[in-house]
Amino acid sequence: MIISIEGADGTGKSSICRMLCAKMEEAGLDCLALREPGSTALGDRIRQILLNFDRQTCLSVGAEFFLFCAARAQLIEEVVARQIKKRDVLVFDRYIDSTIVYQGMVMGLGYERVLNVMHTFFGEFFPDLTIVLDSSIEKVIERIEMGDRIEKRGKIFLEKVLEGFRSLASMFPERVVLVDSNRPLEEVMEDVWKIVSARL
Ligand code: TYD
Repeated sequence: MIISIEGADGTGKSSICRMLCAKMEEAGLDCLALREPGSTALGDRIRQILLNFDRQTCLSVGAEFFLFCAARAQLIEEVVARQIKKRDVLVFDRYIDSTIVYQGMVMGLGYERVLNVMHTFFGEFFPDLTIVLDSSIEKVIERIEMGDRIEKRGKIFLEKVLEGFRSLASMFPERVVLVDSNRPLEEVMEDVWKIVSARL
């Protein structure tokens, strides 16, 4: 089973991923945590490029899209395709839906076009369940350290990302579930666990 945790920057995804994997291990499940982009040597190098490049001058939206896809193709071939047979659950900190929202809906490549590419190349490895951590814009800004390249894009950008994930949840209600993350992490985790355990 593949579960992905999604949401805008600063919604608590990474903490929830860690807590979810710990909870699964406690429940006796063999769980592998993966981070996108990353989790392979190539993916880590692509991540560095994506986080450090000056997008305005040097990295086109199309190039960025293909870099994310390259990292994902490597991760799927090198890790996911094998591990999915051995493990009970793979938990992704960002995955296919981030590309659909960020590159497709927000950055202008087009939702349908990006979704098609995702289906064409990664269709076999779509998540079975996607939890979107949904927050108010104020809370998101409060949590973000305006540090790396991608997170420097400002309030309007973040609002579009939040909106994009919400619309994804209404388009695919059976797969994509919104969880309110304007609350202490423990409470968020309780809801996440209810949703996940119902599907295990
Ligand atoms: P990351 O460090 O993963 O952010 P966070 O810790 O908030 O998850 O940064 C990855 C950034 O890359 C994030 O802003 C979202 C963006 N991204 C895309 O634009 N497209 C993608 O396909 C993926 C996986 C991430």
